[in-house]
Amino acid sequence: MGDVVRLLAGSANRPLAAAVAEQLDIDLTATEVSRFPDGEAAVSVDPDLRDEHVHILQPTSPPVDANLVELLLLVDAAARCGAARIIALVPYLGYARQDRRTEPGQPVSIRVISDLLATTALERVIVIDPHTRYLEAVAGVAVESATAVPDLAQAVADDVPDDAVVVAPDLGAIDLAQGYATRLQLPVAYVNKERLAGDEVRAGEVVGAVADRHPVVVDDMISTGGTIAAAIDALHDAGSREEVTVVATHALLAGDADETLGALPLRRLVVTDTVARATPSALDLDVVSVAPLLAETVRRLETGGRLDELETFH
Ligand code: R5P
Repeated sequence: MGDVVRLLAGSANRPLAAAVAEQLDIDLTATEVSRFPDGEAAVSVDPDLRDEHVHILQPTSPPVDANLVELLLLVDAAARCGAARIIALVPYLGYARQDRRTEPGQPVSIRVISDLLATTALERVIVIDPHTRYLEAVAGVAVESATAVPDLAQAVADDVPDDAVVVAPDLGAIDLAQGYATRLQLPVAYVNKERLAGDEVRAGEVVGAVADRHPVVVDDMISTGGTIAAAIDALHDAGSREEVTVVATHALLAGDADETLGALPLRRLVVTDTVARATPSALDLDVVSVAPLLAETVRRLETGGRLDELETFH
């Protein structure tokens, strides 16, 4: 793989980039990211990239805007060095929740962000479990997605009781929940959720049989933990067992998430390493690495093969 591909990392998740490089048996190509005194990003890459196939790993996780700009600058730097092919590996794509206007006066933010990416020399963007399944439709840049669901499902498979139920904490997570349910051979339920504000949600009725069952609550991402907490309250009200397993691809863990989630009766909290936090979480997280998934994605992009058929590689 070393002869055909160069892997560059922004500053958003260097440990993940190092793990992907190890899986591919290549060295990370040098990049430098610093800040000018006024706060602007200052980026440089190893200039020896002419005719190379360049993959840039940079989730647009918090600080979302800074990491996005860094990605744009890294792509431009690689293009100016003459790279033949530039692909962005964005395991967590920020702004994907803003895929529609929920009220007049709002932008469709993911459209703006993807239009921005489309103005660069990127050939395509690879994401993992994006929030919106309409991403391809709204994005002006070619986007392909891989999924961590097989690996996450495998991580909990031996530990989940036979009488468990997979729960989508809102309607938007139904497809995801179905993916887990199929793999774990469990039924599905969902919670009706209403978002009152960015950090406030209200859970409504639970649809599906959850009484006396162990809930496995699955979501694409956990930000403040409010959605998970509200869903668990609703499940308890509906008679589920007290202890809950929670599985999510992207652990943003923003705001008071550690406190919110730490107060819940969690049997396990299983996430991936798509997002790196500046300070480690105080939570007892089971982390499944997406490095094998990303490494196989790079292999297929370089040597052929479908991304939609990617399965577990652990
Ligand atoms: C929203 O629909 C997403 O799938 C997540 O449920 C949500 O973003 C989680 O956010 P929070 O943890 O802040 O409730």
